[in-house]
Amino acid sequence: MKFQAPKGTHDILPGEVERWQWLEERTRGVMALYGYREVRSPIFESTDLFVRSVGESTDIVRKELYTFQDRKGRSLTLRPEGTAPLVRAFLENAPLREDSQARLYYMGPMFRYERPQAGRYRQFWQIGAELLGSARPEADAEMIDLFRAVLHDVGLEEVTVLLNSLGDATCRPAYREAIRAYFKQHEGKLCGDCKERLATNPLRILDCKVPSCAPVIAGAPSVLDSLCPECAEHFEAVKRALTGLGIRYEIAPRLVRGLDYYTRTVFEIHAAGLGAQSAVGGGGRYDQLVKDFGGPDTPAIGFSIGMERLLLSIGADAAPAAPQADVVVIALKPEAGIEAQALARTLRGQQEAPERRSPLRVLTDVAGRSANSQMKWASKMGAKWAVFVPKGEDGYAVRDMAAGKDEQRQPSIEELRSWLLKRREPVESAR
Ligand code: HAM
Repeated sequence: MKFQAPKGTHDILPGEVERWQWLEERTRGVMALYGYREVRSPIFESTDLFVRSVGESTDIVRKELYTFQDRKGRSLTLRPEGTAPLVRAFLENAPLREDSQARLYYMGPMFRYERPQAGRYRQFWQIGAELLGSARPEADAEMIDLFRAVLHDVGLEEVTVLLNSLGDATCRPAYREAIRAYFKQHEGKLCGDCKERLATNPLRILDCKVPSCAPVIAGAPSVLDSLCPECAEHFEAVKRALTGLGIRYEIAPRLVRGLDYYTRTVFEIHAAGLGAQSAVGGGGRYDQLVKDFGGPDTPAIGFSIGMERLLLSIGADAAPAAPQADVVVIALKPEAGIEAQALARTLRGQQEAPERRSPLRVLTDVAGRSANSQMKWASKMGAKWAVFVPKGEDGYAVRDMAAGKDEQRQPSIEELRSWLLKRREPVESAR
């Protein structure tokens, strides 16, 4: 029997995983600069949590959930996104609510049963940030600025920020009816899915990618023309704030997003070179969600970035694989294997007090190979130095691997270690 990774999933292997670690590190750094703290929530939640937040009529809930029953018959779902779990955690854990402006972020895998293609997977990773407690346009601006800052920090500058407002409970119902009436008139030209959406969720038609629907969608009334005065003023203030921060954006009146919890501001950031799946990430305001979950009135806004897409858009060449070792200790005869391991351990400095520990990466063979094959392996591992055991009468023999040159012997382990430390190359952060 031959096992394969499930369709739509992928292994992240050494060589590539360094870029992931690098991206995670950079992101944590930016989040800290903006005062955001990490929350790690479970990867499964009660199914209801997603049905009630993402929305019953969305594609995510209708077609894409990984839902299962546990042994007690509870319906659980692998999280398709991170906002609803974070809001659940916010309500369940009082310390998260201590600051009236809670700044939180998360990073981790999400699950959607989608048709896999480049940039679209069934298990994919997101970075997400949420700011709970402010209805003010400054919060919207901070979010989009933070999103840009994460991209900027990993070198992605060529992006387009799309901005729209979906109104609120005051103005959206009227817009929904207007758009329903408009699409009803053109029902004959809509695809099968959109005919269904007409009854369940007419706004979603604006998001349809079927080419035959495009001309009808192009003629639809704009949500921006039907905003109530408060929503219109909020949208104007968000635009002013973005301009004030020097963030360029494009107004996208057809941007509706695939989740139902949004109110007012929605946005997406797109990058060139991603093909059809060009959204690196997106987000928006969800001023009612905390209340819908039974919590206090807590306006909020957030975004998520698809990590695979972000890594795709910054290109693979940005990440040379780091060498695996600085030093390889080579056993010249099989009996010297333990001596090699002991020397490797001492050279790593793990027994030393933390301030004396050295960042020497040291490998030693555990496969009982000949000295010759250990040498070949040492070059493959990118080692700069080979050290040989057993120790000779006049000390440890050392070879510069790149130059193929024998160095002066080092009489003791201490001298060997300081000799190597003086010559060690700084460990570059892999990219
Ligand atoms: P979303 O637009 O559904 O929003 O997902 C955000 C990003 O996740 C997308 O722009 C894309 O980069 C990535 N993504 C989504 N689905 C896939 C997939 N199947 N394969 C690869 N990447 C994917 C949300 O999830 C909201 N929770 C964002 C948010 C946070 N809104 C408020 N706060």
